[in-house]
Amino acid sequence: MARERIAIIGAGPSGMAALRAFESAERAGAEIPEVIAFEKQDDWGGQWNFDWRSGIDQYGEPVHSSMYRNLWSNGPKEALEFAEYTFDEHFGRPISSYPPREVLWDYIDGRVRTTNVKDKVRFSTAVRWVEHHEDRDIFTVTVEDLKNHQTTSSEFDRVIVATGHFSFPHVPEFQGIETFPGTLHHAHDFRGAEKLADQRVLLIGASYSAEDIGVQAFKMGARSVTMSYRSGPMGYDWPEGMEELPLLERFEGATVSFSNGETREFDAVILCTGYLHKYPFLPSDLALQSGNTIYPAGLYRGVVWQGSPKVYYLGAQDQWFTFNMFDAQAWYVRDLIMGRAELPTAAERTEHLQDWHQRFQGVGGDADAVRFQAEYIRDLIGATDYPMFDLVEVVRIFLAWKDDKKKNILTYRDKPYRSVMTGSLAAEHHTTWLQELDDSLERYLSTPEETDVEKAVRGVDTPDAPAPGNVRGEETPTA
Ligand SMILES: Cc1cc2nc3c(=O)[nH]c(=O)nc-3n(C[C@H](O)[C@H](O)[C@H](O)COP(=O)(O)OP(=O)(O)OC[C@H]3O[C@@H](n4cnc5c(N)ncnc54)[C@H](O)[C@@H]3O)c2cc1C
Ligand SMILES: NC(=O)c1ccc[n+]([C@@H]2O[C@H](COP(=O)([O-])OP(=O)(O)OC[C@H]3O[C@@H](n4cnc5c(N)ncnc54)[C@H](OP(=O)(O)O)[C@@H]3O)[C@@H](O)[C@H]2O)c1
Repeated sequence: MARERIAIIGAGPSGMAALRAFESAERAGAEIPEVIAFEKQDDWGGQWNFDWRSGIDQYGEPVHSSMYRNLWSNGPKEALEFAEYTFDEHFGRPISSYPPREVLWDYIDGRVRTTNVKDKVRFSTAVRWVEHHEDRDIFTVTVEDLKNHQTTSSEFDRVIVATGHFSFPHVPEFQGIETFPGTLHHAHDFRGAEKLADQRVLLIGASYSAEDIGVQAFKMGARSVTMSYRSGPMGYDWPEGMEELPLLERFEGATVSFSNGETREFDAVILCTGYLHKYPFLPSDLALQSGNTIYPAGLYRGVVWQGSPKVYYLGAQDQWFTFNMFDAQAWYVRDLIMGRAELPTAAERTEHLQDWHQRFQGVGGDADAVRFQAEYIRDLIGATDYPMFDLVEVVRIFLAWKDDKKKNILTYRDKPYRSVMTGSLAAEHHTTWLQELDDSLERYLSTPEETDVEKAVRGVDTPDAPAPGNVRGEETPTA
């Protein structure tokens, strides 16, 4: 029988997990299918592959990454660690629990850097269209080589969709917003908080983007930060200068009215209103339509498209767990493709979907959601040879993390957690998140001399020590 051909669309952490899953089977002596990944960016890493551009990239394509220069992990790395490639193995020593973006990119790159899997990726190549030919049960995948402007089509037996779902901004309308004279954009286009110094900033939304861009703006010395919620406030103990207000009702120029009757003036507005699941390269019968949820409808075991079970999705869920969940999914999909795991009948899959959907309906809050996702991962790993890890402990880490944030939203990233993979305790980073103004890998891995600012913070006399933004943790102006 001819070797099957597998198309992976996207080489972010999910697509890389799929590449790694096949590579690990090959390393163990198995014959694997022919795998080709298409990645529209020049390098892999997905969201973690920072692009300074916003809007349109060098090829005229929509910029994929929504990450910004100052982004650090917003959850402890111990909750996302690969079970078969640990942080200790990669860095050769314990690092802190909340690394900046470049450090995490280095980690996911490092796992596959020394393998041949990069040869399986066609970079700078955008998938334009996927067509399923039901008579032969094969797919035609049409791609554009963005550097050479060449469009080609080829046939595949199966398609793995790993294009992420935090790239197409959800941009709702707000009354009068067109009259706002200041800077106005969606979080997707936000690249750094430095320019928010001295600005009165409005963030619309009450989730991770609003929270993190809010504290970044505070850190960089915004005059005030107001976050506007629709369903409910985040409710952290915000420092002076940050506040939450209910949903805004209208803009009149720079003045914004909120539903509790209050008004404020702003210089900058960032819509932190989330993202759309969008798959412009898929016909509607293959395209997942979903909100940002931990159990999207129509995906058996969260990965197999019920409408066409040779189409798989990785990373389509809302994400408490990330890298290790993508691994669990990738290993399971690999095993289905290689015939190591059996795909149940359509009726059995429907029953399974209904059962898990019912469980999902019973999820009452964040703690329940984390446990649900942990059980989902346990179920997947149980069906594969991916190393099982202590999911109960990871749930505990997530809950402790939530607690840390409640205690202090500005210092939670300074806390070390213990790896469930190696048992080693994370290092305390040389500089607190609030003090750190250089988010590079080089600085992160260095052992820096104490700066004048840090000495000043410790109360050691230094002449003319400047305090950028709010890094002193004082002089926090009011709204
Ligand atoms: C602002 C932000 C911050 C985040 N912070 C964290 C964090 O701190 N910790 C954490 O664990 N997770 C975080 N995440 C979650 C993040 O989504 C995951 O960590 C991870 O990047 C998801 O991997 P993915 O491969 O599924 O998708 P992505 O990372 O989005 O990668 C998808 C890939 O598909 C490619 N692609 C898309 N369309 C096409 C096409 N048509 N043709 C070819 N290639 C295509 C893209 O170029 C991209 O490389 C964050 C997300 C955002 C948006
Ligand atoms: N590492 C980091 O620090 C970092 C930073 C940013 C983002 N991220 C990641 O990025 C991903 C996306 O996070 P996100 O916060 O952008 O999206 P999200 O979690 O989907 O949240 C979207 C927010 O927008 C609100 N919203 C949607 N429509 C609205 C409307 N019409 N009016 C007012 N509010 C509206 C939602 O309110 P409702 O609750 O009412 O629906 C919700 O608060 C997450 O995985 C997160 O972990 C990480």
